[in-house]
Amino acid sequence: MPAITNVTVVGASGTLGVPLVKALQEAGFHVTALSRAGSPSTPPAGVEVKKVDYGSPEALKAALAGQDALVSVITTTATGEQYPFIDAAIAAGVRRIIPSEFGINTRTVPHPGLKAMLQSKIKLVDYLQEKSRENPSLTWTGICNSFFFDSIKRGSGFGFDLKTKKATIIDSGDEPFDVATLSFVAKAVVAVLSSPDKTANQYLAVSGTVTTQNQLLAILREETGGDWTTENVAAAKYEEVGNEKMAKGDYSAFGDFLHVLLFRDGAGQAFQAPANELLGLEREDARTSLKALLAGVSF
Ligand SMILES: NC(=O)c1ccc[n+]([C@@H]2O[C@H](COP(=O)([O-])OP(=O)(O)OC[C@H]3O[C@@H](n4cnc5c(N)ncnc54)[C@H](OP(=O)(O)O)[C@@H]3O)[C@@H](O)[C@H]2O)c1
Repeated sequence: MPAITNVTVVGASGTLGVPLVKALQEAGFHVTALSRAGSPSTPPAGVEVKKVDYGSPEALKAALAGQDALVSVITTTATGEQYPFIDAAIAAGVRRIIPSEFGINTRTVPHPGLKAMLQSKIKLVDYLQEKSRENPSLTWTGICNSFFFDSIKRGSGFGFDLKTKKATIIDSGDEPFDVATLSFVAKAVVAVLSSPDKTANQYLAVSGTVTTQNQLLAILREETGGDWTTENVAAAKYEEVGNEKMAKGDYSAFGDFLHVLLFRDGAGQAFQAPANELLGLEREDARTSLKALLAGVSF
């Protein structure tokens, strides 16, 4: 397959979009941001921005003409709304599509509640598989990376409330799980687009690093002062709360179920065979990443 040069990013101004655009530009790709007509977002500097009515197939196709790849990092709640620009990309002859995945592995998700909530992502990968079978010049790559490590700064990511220095430890706190910084995920996308042949039509799991809640707590104690309080909660409690929320149509159950999926003793979700080697990605170091993420946070 010829090299990929022109890359359109959907959601370029978002949490993952900003570091992704930077990494793509640094790697020498020509980046265009596709954004909703009327969107208040400001995509990163130095990027050509095309604000388009996603309800117009013709306008989308015109905006995607000449592009080699489309990377969608659209927000979670809009992942079911990717078909208009994906269909337009296919019609415009875009050769590689990377859909907005970037979380847990939606090909294997073993939790029924999470699986129900991830249907829009799951169906889109199925759709891309079908489309690429019909049209061999179209290829796709799915990327999953488990938790964004950067979410730890949001306050309660991973069970750590940085403001109150309270840790909520699920079961023993010793269950290994993967995390990846946003810049690591961006590097994974760059690596996929830099090696289009070996990454075609595959769903790839990447891992920044494998850690546990107790390991992260130990680092947090050392880096922020030792005065953390801890509460131990059984994973079963999160399952119960998640089910209660789901029964009321409250989709914040997603967070509760994620705790069950990843932190429960015996969960076994740490990626066994990540695609790091295929993509030439070196593992991150949990302490170094966490220190960098905590820089600027006052304690
Ligand atoms: N692994 C993790 O821990 C983790 C955490 C968070 C997210 N994720 C995943 O990462 C991917 C990107 O998420 P993100 O948090 O970076 O996204 P985000 O910052 O919430 O949003 C990205 C972009 O989506 C577009 N958008 C927002 N609302 C929209 C709507 N209603 N319809 C159409 N477009 C809309 C906006 O772009 P425009 O305004 O330019 O149109 C926005 O800048 C998603 O697949 C998400 O599930 C993973």
